[in-house]
Amino acid sequence: MSKLIKLAVLAASTGIAVFFLATPGFAAGGGAELLKVDIDPGQINSLQRGARNFMNYCSGCHSAQYVRFNTIGKYLELSDEQLIDNLMFNAEKTFEPIVAAMSAADAERWYGKAPPDLSLMARSKGADYIYSFLKGFYLQADSPTGVDNLYLPGTSMPHVLWDLQGYQRANFSEHTEAGVTTVHFEGFEQVTEGNISLALADDYDEFVRDTVNFLAYIAEPIRAERRKIGTWVIMYLLVFLIIAYMLKKQVWKDVH
Ligand code: HEC
Repeated sequence: MSKLIKLAVLAASTGIAVFFLATPGFAAGGGAELLKVDIDPGQINSLQRGARNFMNYCSGCHSAQYVRFNTIGKYLELSDEQLIDNLMFNAEKTFEPIVAAMSAADAERWYGKAPPDLSLMARSKGADYIYSFLKGFYLQADSPTGVDNLYLPGTSMPHVLWDLQGYQRANFSEHTEAGVTTVHFEGFEQVTEGNISLALADDYDEFVRDTVNFLAYIAEPIRAERRKIGTWVIMYLLVFLIIAYMLKKQVWKDVH
């Protein structure tokens, strides 16, 4: 009987594990593999650039309503003055959250879909996804925005970074086997060059990485703190282990 229960528990946990393992692949949509981005919430320079990128290129449409300017200002080591001059275009007070310049209703009228709040996007869809998404726009003549996205086919977000990245074409190949046609993504081909220096960045990948790094930071502002605390906890446990071991030796020393 207990064997049976054990088996059931094992089966259930395997099921759960498989479900979670399968989820990221599911989020990829389009069938193309996600690109990888290495983010680091400890890199303050990158986060500062990311915040600037976000405010300049995203906050027109997207809000980040769970994030207050003074919170990021503190973590990004910016003075109130720097904060107000460089980041706060749509806000008056440093304790205000980041609210999109365009109202959600207007945005919905213009784009057919309200741009989602980006506070928690890096947690719900993953940093790799956002990185891939921002690199995944390609020319598509019959789309209302003139582009489509490899990772979110049919998206209503325009390629807002086109002047930085330029436009690219996506090449697909078709394979038909036993009457079933599958489409494979073969790669992007640059059609027009962008001008990344407009955004005071070195290259497009770096620009996107900084932006995603910032989004990952705002999605989990406590992350860096948590790691620091984690290190202390482990150290404490190690010291405690030594003490416990010595205590055990002491207590058992007369017992043979
Ligand atoms: C001109 C308005 C506009 C701007 C500017 C804009 N977006 Fe969007 N964005 C949208 C709209 C509209 C959607 C909804 C798209 C959809 O669901 O098809 C969207 C969706 C998204 C999504 C969600 C994709 C998904 O899988 O649901 C992410 C992530 C995103 N935008 C990131 C960004 C970032 C980062 C920037 C700045 C570099 C940015 N956006 C700038 C309009 C905009």
